[in-house]
Amino acid sequence: MKVKVCCAQIALLTLIAMGCSVMSAVAFPETSYPGRDEYGDTCWYTNCHAVSNNDGTGPHGNYSATSNVCSLCHTVHDAPTGGVALLPEPTVTGMCLMCHDGTGSPGSGVYGAIIGRGLTVSSEHSVNATNVIPGGDIGGGDTTRDFSEGGVLGCGDCHTPHGSRTVARFAGERSRNSTKDTFRNAELRSTRLLKQLPTGATTPVVEYGSDWCMACHAGRGSWIGGPMNHPVDSKLTTSAPYVYDRVPRMSSDTATVDQVVGSMGRIADGTEWRVRHNRAFVMPWPRTVLQAGHAPICMQCHEDARSVGAVGAVASATVSTPNGTTATDNPRFQNFPHESTNPKFLVEVGDDLCTNCHPTEQLP
Ligand code: HEC
Ligand code: HEC
Ligand code: HEC
Ligand code: HEC
Ligand code: HEC
Ligand code: HEC
Repeated sequence: MKVKVCCAQIALLTLIAMGCSVMSAVAFPETSYPGRDEYGDTCWYTNCHAVSNNDGTGPHGNYSATSNVCSLCHTVHDAPTGGVALLPEPTVTGMCLMCHDGTGSPGSGVYGAIIGRGLTVSSEHSVNATNVIPGGDIGGGDTTRDFSEGGVLGCGDCHTPHGSRTVARFAGERSRNSTKDTFRNAELRSTRLLKQLPTGATTPVVEYGSDWCMACHAGRGSWIGGPMNHPVDSKLTTSAPYVYDRVPRMSSDTATVDQVVGSMGRIADGTEWRVRHNRAFVMPWPRTVLQAGHAPICMQCHEDARSVGAVGAVASATVSTPNGTTATDNPRFQNFPHESTNPKFLVEVGDDLCTNCHPTEQLP
């Protein structure tokens, strides 16, 4: 990751006395962080991963008269000079990395897990590094944007720290670190703090799907008269586009025709939402009625790198440990859209991607 994290960590150590003995303890969320004693806070259970944190929001929401969370991030008096919004770090992104740090623990964040496993990052939404959006121009070319971290892309361009004005909850895939994190094995539907209006967007996006990506990549959608891209389901092609949490997927790994509409993320097995699958990355040919009038969404081509298999033989999805520590896991990393081992965040590369939906018998 192109980010200067060491200074941020050292600055953190010296600048704020958060009451933690081991700094990596704050890292997201591997070993318990003891909290700020002066606030009577035993963070792991009360504030950060509070008992009430059954929705994965952590310190980013569920604020109440009895919670004491603001102080985890804001220092009301004598905050470090040169910072913003009374934060302990000079930048918002630095602030986020204080807890969601992929290098401190090691390799347990949404960024840093790939390098932490000794592999190479092939694509990323880098933070603190760029203002250029590939395919950001509505005409199809690249464009620049005035992002939140002094003009370049940072966490705050996609996420809100306070969980305000977010997209609707959706089921995700990522295995979170903490063994104490009950949320990890329960229903995994949350907003991921995704802003309805990523920086620069003017039309709110209420569901996480192609339209959310197109808030920045305006020239990667498909519409009559637009740039020549692969067809993509979005508000520009249909009034009710499929989204990440509502897309046709094969009804089972072995189904050859039957599809159901549901999440690309984890699905329910009885009472728990822990079943991973790769069933939304393939499409039967001939297309089914559920596919009529619809194209794929961005995430059916751009997601975590994995082995998809084919219609009738979809590869099973297994994540046995967080952060890619088990090399055979599929998908090994669940860090999309932060970093990937594949170029351009492609699910699979080369023809392997195309044949997921275009078997050779379809081709003229
Ligand atoms: C997880 C860390 C975190 C927590 C917890 C948190 N904040 Fe913030 N807060 C931030 C960050 C980061 C910013 C800077 C946001 C930006 O500039 O986009 C911020 C900015 C603010 C601002 C300035 C907004 C502006 O327009 O300049 C206020 C006010 C604020 N927070 C109040 C609160 C209150 C009240 C709470 C508790 C109910 C709280 N925060 C909890 C991280 C946090
Ligand atoms: C004080 C530590 C701390 C800071 C600072 C912090 N986070 Fe978090 N964050 C957490 C914890 C703890 C969780 C909840 C994890 C869980 O229990 O599943 C969380 C959850 C999240 C989630 C998932 C939310 C969901 O609804 O699924 C996102 C996204 C996130 N944080 C982004 C950020 C960003 C962006 C920043 C900087 C603006 C930031 N965090 C700063 C500790 C922190
Ligand atoms: C807030 C604006 C923003 C949003 C929202 C956004 N992107 Fe990006 N995207 C960027 C920027 C900026 C870059 C360039 C990043 C870099 O150079 O590190 C980029 C790069 C990419 C790349 C190329 C990565 C590489 O390393 O080659 C792909 C593919 C991509 N984005 C797909 C998506 C998809 C799919 C979504 C929706 C899930 C999405 N983006 C949402 C701004 C955004
Ligand atoms: C280009 C937009 C973008 C940027 C920049 C970005 N994120 Fe995210 N982030 C996302 C999206 C989209 C998701 C939800 C992915 C999913 O669940 O499929 C997400 C999910 C997360 C999660 C939740 C992962 C989980 O366990 O479910 C955390 C934590 C997080 N981001 C932290 C960060 C931090 C910290 C930064 C900056 C260092 C950052 N993000 C930068 C788009 C972004
Ligand atoms: C059918 C599969 C497919 C769909 C759907 C798709 N992409 Fe792509 N995308 C690709 C492939 C393959 C590449 C690499 C091709 C290349 O680099 O020329 C790519 C490259 C990109 C790139 C980086 C290079 C560039 O030219 O900008 C971005 C950004 C991107 N896609 C964004 C998106 C967004 C946003 C969506 C949804 C609106 C989307 N893509 C939908 C397959 C797809
Ligand atoms: C997730 C499924 C999916 C993937 C992966 C996918 N496609 Fe498609 N593609 C579709 C659908 C759906 C259509 C609409 C027509 C149809 O049903 O075949 C389409 C249409 C097309 C068209 C016709 C476009 C037009 O304007 O008429 C071409 C060409 C194409 N795809 C090529 C590719 C190539 C090359 C790849 C690999 C880079 C690819 N597709 C990957 C689902 C997919």
